[in-house]
Amino acid sequence: MHHVKKLEKLPPQREKVETLKILRQLGKTSNALGELKGIAKIIPNQSMLINAVVLQEAKDSSEIENIITTQDELYRALTTTGKYSQEIKEVINYRKAIFLGNDIIKNQGFLRLKDIEKIQSEIVENSAGIRSLTGTVLKNDKTGEIVYTPPQEKKEILDLLSNFLEHFNTLQSDLSPLINLAILHYQFESIHPFYDGNGRTGRILNILYLIINNLLDIPILYLSSYINENKKEYYKLLNRVDTNGSWENWILYILKAIESTSLNTVKKITSIKELLEKDLLLAQEKASKIYKKELIELLFEQPYSKIESIVKGLGVERKAASRYLKNLEEVGILKSQKVGRETIYIKIKLIDILKD
Ligand SMILES: Nc1ncnc2c1ncn2[C@@H]1O[C@H](COP(=O)(O)OP(=O)(O)OP(=O)(O)O)[C@@H](O)[C@H]1O
Ligand SMILES: [Mg+2]
Repeated sequence: MHHVKKLEKLPPQREKVETLKILRQLGKTSNALGELKGIAKIIPNQSMLINAVVLQEAKDSSEIENIITTQDELYRALTTTGKYSQEIKEVINYRKAIFLGNDIIKNQGFLRLKDIEKIQSEIVENSAGIRSLTGTVLKNDKTGEIVYTPPQEKKEILDLLSNFLEHFNTLQSDLSPLINLAILHYQFESIHPFYDGNGRTGRILNILYLIINNLLDIPILYLSSYINENKKEYYKLLNRVDTNGSWENWILYILKAIESTSLNTVKKITSIKELLEKDLLLAQEKASKIYKKELIELLFEQPYSKIESIVKGLGVERKAASRYLKNLEEVGILKSQKVGRETIYIKIKLIDILKD
């Protein structure tokens, strides 16, 4: 039986969100995240790192929504010209929305309601905005059973959102921002302010929240892959907070997700850095005529390169760009593939790192 219970405003009772178990996990999560923040700094080309990781997240996050795009299909679509499929477009929109949010945070340091609306509108590609029609309910995919009824009246939604933003932009004294992130994520999903795209928007708000609170400098921690792998638990725990106000396990889930994802991302960044160093040496030795540090770094911005991306990235002639790519293939740094009339150059080892 499903009971419609009014969604409570923030903050929840302090004792419920600062239990001993939560505080113990918090230490581990903070350490892992600190390590990630530190290691991200030592990557020379930050935009390279962001691009690679953001693309992966855009793919994973869109997968929660059941838009399954293979890595290969995605990279190829991004590299070649022509029309994108709907699936690819959704991934690209999600990536744009992350960058949009990141710019807003960098420029103003906090979020307004209209910023959240912009982010969501970028994701869903429409301007329907905050729900103003009643009838939105959350159902179990398989059984069709209603699992949660979010607030229905626009006035209540706006009221809850303004309470949400107050707690998003200002931290209650002494509360850990990581605990608050878990609380905020639950609250946003439960307000469910839009007709669609609430999950994706909420996942972008998570990363922006980490940046606002200086827990990261650049947008590189994404929980979608973890949530995908532990999806049943994710829905179950959201539901427990709805029905019983049981915050503990929900907060533990999010803290563990952040810990595990941070450690994974640290591993990925380390591998990317090692690969970059190896390729720099290799090119210096075996392709010394065309060697340029910026050229090798550019190859890491997108796992697929083509002549145009080199022309654009380095400001060289097509002929030169083509020669660079061929030469880099000869020494084993890239592998070419024909797609229609175009030749694209794949950075296979980078794809392997990003994949697992
Ligand atoms: N019982 C629940 N209580 C609160 N929020 C829930 C509950 N069940 C699911 N949700 C949230 O609703 C989101 C889905 O909403 P919506 O379809 O608007 O977003 P989406 O971005 O299109 O989808 P997805 O998150 O699946 O990619 C889920 O990601 C989850 O965070
Ligand atoms: Mg949806």
